[in-house]
Amino acid sequence: MSFNLLKGKKGIIFGALDANSIAWKTAETIHAEGGTFVLTNAPIGMRMGQIDELAKKTGSKIIPADATSEEDLENLVTKSMEILGGKIDFVLHAIGMSVNVRKGRAYVDEKYDFTTKGWDVSALSFHKVMQCLYKADAMNEWGSIVALTYMAAQRTFPDYNDMADNKAYLESVARSFGYFFGKEKKVRVNTISQSPTPTTAGQGVKGFDNFISYAEKMSPLGNATAQDCADYTVTLFSDLTKKVTMQNLFHDGGFSNTGVSQEVIDRFSE
Ligand SMILES: NC(=O)c1ccc[n+]([C@@H]2O[C@H](COP(=O)([O-])OP(=O)(O)OC[C@H]3O[C@@H](n4cnc5c(N)ncnc54)[C@H](O)[C@@H]3O)[C@@H](O)[C@H]2O)c1
Repeated sequence: MSFNLLKGKKGIIFGALDANSIAWKTAETIHAEGGTFVLTNAPIGMRMGQIDELAKKTGSKIIPADATSEEDLENLVTKSMEILGGKIDFVLHAIGMSVNVRKGRAYVDEKYDFTTKGWDVSALSFHKVMQCLYKADAMNEWGSIVALTYMAAQRTFPDYNDMADNKAYLESVARSFGYFFGKEKKVRVNTISQSPTPTTAGQGVKGFDNFISYAEKMSPLGNATAQDCADYTVTLFSDLTKKVTMQNLFHDGGFSNTGVSQEVIDRFSE
């Protein structure tokens, strides 16, 4: 079902790698809601992924950009405004990667070059994207910027490793930049704290399959899927949420406020 919530709105979507990606589902949903956008990913992500197919399906152009490169981001913002014919209304930052996780380095055995790289990709890139948009005065008033995060920023999940610290930083950047973007440009900035979701990035976390089943049993409404996240993001890009800013919004079926569920108690009584 679509409501034309994003009719006439123009944006940039980071992070669609394949059909499982949260950004992929979001792009499809934004398209169905009448929005137009440029798709972007790191050159390596584009080689691995199938972004061309998504571009064709949604009538979008693709501009490669490594989200850690200020030069790439400047080019992306300039070209996007040319392609879309003006300023931007919405931006989705759906980027995450930990080199320590990829290389199997535990939290108590981090290689700090890996830590720095993962932080740059997963957290500082959000600041870089916003600073670039801000300096170029590229956002329309009442525009909306969203990044995706995970609850390990508030509570410890041992195998989430250094991504927990990256997400805490990301959420802080949303609040800090949200202040300036709100004051100066009337643009809102929020993070969505999403349930575990079976994507390439999600499945990189050790023990993901057991963890996603645990979260499902702990959440009164069950885990939020990638499609649920896409739907929620559309509301944040729409004009129905104009005064929501500088928030970390839990989108997890109730997991974050559940101490224990009956299903989990029952498992321990077996
Ligand atoms: N999957 C989950 O369980 C889950 C839960 C909560 C939050 N999130 C967050 O959602 C976001 C999207 O991840 P996903 O789960 O859809 O996985 P995904 O693997 O489909 O997407 C991650 C994307 O980051 C991109 N990326 C990596 N390095 C980049 C760089 N240098 N420049 C630009 N792009 C780069 C990848 O190419 C990929 O498209 C991430 O921020 C992730 O942490 C995921």
